[in-house]
Amino acid sequence: MRLAGKVAIITGAAVGLKGELMNFGGGAAWRFVEQGAQVVLTDIDDERGELTAAQICEAGGDALYLHHDVSDENDWARVVDAALARFGRLDVLVNNAGGGGGGSEITSDSSIQAFKHWMDVNCTGTFLGIRAAIDSMKEAGGGSIINVSSIYGMVGGPAPPSYLASKGAIRNLTKGTAVQLAPYGIRVNSIHPGFAFTARTRENFSKKEEAAVRLARVPMGRFATVDEVVYGMIYLASDESSWVTGTELVIDGGLTAA
Ligand SMILES: NC(=O)c1ccc[n+]([C@@H]2O[C@H](COP(=O)([O-])OP(=O)(O)OC[C@H]3O[C@@H](n4cnc5c(N)ncnc54)[C@H](O)[C@@H]3O)[C@@H](O)[C@H]2O)c1
Repeated sequence: MRLAGKVAIITGAAVGLKGELMNFGGGAAWRFVEQGAQVVLTDIDDERGELTAAQICEAGGDALYLHHDVSDENDWARVVDAALARFGRLDVLVNNAGGGGGGSEITSDSSIQAFKHWMDVNCTGTFLGIRAAIDSMKEAGGGSIINVSSIYGMVGGPAPPSYLASKGAIRNLTKGTAVQLAPYGIRVNSIHPGFAFTARTRENFSKKEEAAVRLARVPMGRFATVDEVVYGMIYLASDESSWVTGTELVIDGGLTAA
């Protein structure tokens, strides 16, 4: 019960159907509840999000699903209000929703639209989340904000420019806001997963050649599981990390150390 009594909002948490491969957000929702938290799952994938929350409730957890476009300021206000109305407080925010698109190589005609879209979701979305959580966390006497970046927020590689730029921005947005919010007991940290086998990456990472190219860069020689990243989130969400703020938790099988 490492998260007993805590209320958490987890964005990008729709994909968490029992017995199926999950994504980080859906997997985190199950594990957070297992550790005693009450959770608000949000996403734009409403069908799966509702089903995931219903399954968590059926299993005895306390979960609420809300439609939420993280790049929309008004959606953030509605989500935080609904979380407070249902659970009365907010202790943890996991800014997990995100992704990339528009091709993994920079070329003279790389899509501006894709760049702007993913900057909006990954970077502006994280900014809006921090901003929306501040007042209620101050009221609760503190809180923990966990921003999901990537190894591609630290090093380069074959990823869309929007992804590299936005994940890098999340890294330093985390540090700057951590310094400013420390006096209020609000901790802000980033997580930097390497290549993980999730519901989203399964198709690509199941292809022999795609897997080999990636695993050649991973000293541990395999992909991360969803849980291996979620356990890092639990640590940062819990009081075990009460003096940890502004830091980067790299979970990458050694990739960035090599
Ligand atoms: N899987 C990996 O190998 C890996 C590695 C490093 C970082 N990450 C990061 O982890 C996070 C989760 O990724 P994942 O692989 O678990 O699955 P994912 O990419 O499918 O999860 C992201 C979720 O965000 C949702 N989403 C997309 N746009 C949204 C928006 N505008 N508003 C709200 N929700 C939106 C999607 O519907 C999806 O459920 C992402 O931020 C991703 O960049 C993943």
